[in-house]
Amino acid sequence: MKKVLVLYYSRTGNTEKMANAIAEGVQSSGNAEAEISYHVQTESLSLYDAILVGTPTYHHDMPVDFKNLFEEAAVQGISLKGKVGAAFGSYGWSGEGPKLILEIMKYKFEMQVVEPPLLAKYTPDQNMLTACRELGKRVSETLMNRT
Ligand SMILES: Cc1cc2nc3c(=O)[nH]c(=O)nc-3n(C[C@H](O)[C@H](O)[C@H](O)COP(=O)(O)O)c2cc1C
Repeated sequence: MKKVLVLYYSRTGNTEKMANAIAEGVQSSGNAEAEISYHVQTESLSLYDAILVGTPTYHHDMPVDFKNLFEEAAVQGISLKGKVGAAFGSYGWSGEGPKLILEIMKYKFEMQVVEPPLLAKYTPDQNMLTACRELGKRVSETLMNRT
């Protein structure tokens, strides 16, 4: 069974709704297990086959917790090379957060990223939640095709 981390931050619940739908999509394939969490120990990142990060955009940026997480992973020399990565999140008008995360995954950690990031303007509607489930499913199918 492949392991997928759905790590997210959300102040008003919009990115959380996306994270839940993505985790549902991962589970629906039957070949991957989704762990949904607000926090992860840096060392644990290496345990997952795919890492999906949900971040809203506040002040044109990602939350400081995610900055610290990726900086710490780099300092500790944790290899995420080849793992599947994706980023998603709710935004209001500019939506930089998920794009910043995806850049770090791609250029610093050499992860195999799903592009572009999935962005929902404010509260995700039913179409967006369907797109979230599809993203989760796509990630688990990518993992299945690797074995
Ligand atoms: C203080 C504040 C700053 C914000 N800054 C941005 C911003 O720079 N760019 C943007 O696209 N949205 C911005 N937003 C909108 C949020 O990204 C949006 O409300 C989003 O739905 C929050 O997601 P969450 O419910 O997962 O926390 C801001 C919202 C607040 C309250």
